[in-house]
Amino acid sequence: MSLFPNMRTPRLRSRSHSLRRGFGTVDTLLLVGGATLLAWGGLYVGRYSGRFDANEFDEIPHGPAPKVIAVAADPNAVIFRSGLAVYNKTCVNCHMADGNGRPEAPYFIPPLAGSDWILAESPNRIARIAMHGLNGPVKVKDAMYQGGVMNPQGQSADNPTGLTNEEIANVLSYVRNSWGNKASLVSLAQVDAIAKEAEKRAENWTVEELMKVPMSGGATASAAITPDQLKAALKALPAAELEAVLKDLKK
Ligand code: HEC
Repeated sequence: MSLFPNMRTPRLRSRSHSLRRGFGTVDTLLLVGGATLLAWGGLYVGRYSGRFDANEFDEIPHGPAPKVIAVAADPNAVIFRSGLAVYNKTCVNCHMADGNGRPEAPYFIPPLAGSDWILAESPNRIARIAMHGLNGPVKVKDAMYQGGVMNPQGQSADNPTGLTNEEIANVLSYVRNSWGNKASLVSLAQVDAIAKEAEKRAENWTVEELMKVPMSGGATASAAITPDQLKAALKALPAAELEAVLKDLKK
C-alpha cells in the first residue's frame, strides 16, 4: 500500500507534457550529436571529455552549450569547414571549386582532386608547396604541367597577409578529404615542424628539390584534433560558418 496513493498519475502526466513542449532544434542537435559521439567511440572522450565543459567554450559567439556538444561530437567538421574557408579565400581561383584546376593554356594549373601529391602519406611536400609555391614542370595524375607558377601562399615578411601555419594545416586537411580524396588530417604541429625545417626558404620549390624531401619522419599525423586545436578553430570560425558546421552535422 502506498503512502501517497495520489502521487503517481499527475507526476507522470506533467513530465511527458514538458518533454513534448521542449522538443525542438536544440534537442535534435543534441540527439544527432549524442549519437555521433557514441559512434565515434570512447577513446577521444575518455581522453579529453573533461575539456568539453561549457565554460571551456564560453567565447563562441552566441553558442549555447547544446551546440558545443554537437560540434564536440565531430570536431573534424570544424577543421574541414575552416579549411574550406581558407580554400575559398586563397586557392579556389586557381584550383577551382571542384578541385580540377585549369589544365588548359595559358593557366596550366594542375588538379588537386586525385593528385598523388595531395594523397601522399606525409604532407611534407604539399605543405612546402602551400608555403613557398612551386615553379617548373610537375607531373600530376600522369599529365605534365609546365608553364604555370604557383606563388607562395604562406605568411612571411614578403607576404604579411599570407596564410598562417594553422590555416595551411586546415586547408591541407580539407583538400586531402574533398572531391573523393581520402588521406589523414594535417596537424598544426606537422606544419610548424615543416615551417621550421624550411625556415630559410625564400624562393618557390621545384619538383627536383621536393623529391629530396623525405616523406617520413617529423611530426606524425594526428588521428583526431586536440581540444586546443578545436578551441582555436571554433574561435576563428565566423558565426555563420559555425551554423554551417552544425547543419553539416545534422545531415
Ligand atoms: C595563382 C594560382 C594558384 C593559387 C592561388 C594556388 N595554386 Fe596551387 N598550383 C598552381 C599552379 C600553376 C601549380 C603548378 C605549378 C608548376 O607548374 O610548377 C600548382 C600546384 C599545386 C600543387 C602540386 C600539384 C598538384 O596539383 O597536386 C599543390 C599541392 C597545390 N598547388 C596546392 C595549392 C593550395 C592548397 C593552394 C591554396 C592554399 C594553392 N595551391 C593556391 C596555381 C595556384
